[in-house]
Amino acid sequence: MIRVEGVSHVRGRTRVLQDIDLELPVATLAVLAGRSGSGKSTLCHLIAGVMAPSQGRVLFRGRPLRGTPPWVDISLLPQRLALEPDLTVAENVLLPIGLRKQRIDDRESGHRGAGLLERLGLAGIAGRRVRETSLGEQQRAALGRALVLGPAVAVLDEPTAHQDDDHVHLVLAALAAAVDDGTLVVVASHDQRVIETAGMVTRMRSGRIDEAGGHERRGADDAGDQKA
Ligand SMILES: Nc1ncnc2c1ncn2[C@@H]1O[C@H](COP(=O)(O)OP(=O)(O)O)[C@@H](O)[C@H]1O
Ligand SMILES: [Mg+2]
Repeated sequence: MIRVEGVSHVRGRTRVLQDIDLELPVATLAVLAGRSGSGKSTLCHLIAGVMAPSQGRVLFRGRPLRGTPPWVDISLLPQRLALEPDLTVAENVLLPIGLRKQRIDDRESGHRGAGLLERLGLAGIAGRRVRETSLGEQQRAALGRALVLGPAVAVLDEPTAHQDDDHVHLVLAALAAAVDDGTLVVVASHDQRVIETAGMVTRMRSGRIDEAGGHERRGADDAGDQKA
């Protein structure tokens, strides 16, 4: 679904990513793990097409990304959320439906939006303005917004950063449901609670894929083997 080929990226005078090759298949929860500063957010932005790599390319369905794709193809939950504070929680979650350029089924997305508000524990505050909600609630609203169109790819930067243990399972359940619907969910996270549920983990270190920790694939079959 997504293929990252020979990507390096320079910001200012710093090389923040080097020689990244990555193949991310459909209907997978793929985690980019690594400590702060390892380049996770930068790689998220390149995969979402909001920035172009200095070198190499990112392919979506076999074609190079040119510019930012529509959210029905690739959506993004940025680390800093970027919600509209004067709109309500529900209005933020449903915003991509109104902004879309391609024809999609509004009813299906509206139905999905209502389900997401419920599933993410936001139904009770759906009518409240975002500026009057907690950071954890805002992060779940931004997650709902990224999933409301049922995108082919959802790129989520640290989606559990503001979630306590009581709410993290809501986020994990929403990610699992998106994968079940066929979405490739790409998550940047160093949260062990997320890494444990991943289908694939890519460990990053100083802008490179850590060869030792490399790519770890976990199928339903070998999950059992690992425990044995
Ligand atoms: N706009 C920028 N200009 C220069 N360096 C940057 C910029 N943004 C991020 N960096 C640097 O790039 C590296 C990777 O950052 P980032 O992708 O945010 O990593 P992570 O998300 O893993 O914390 C860090 O060393 C960071 O300081
Ligand atoms: Mg980051």
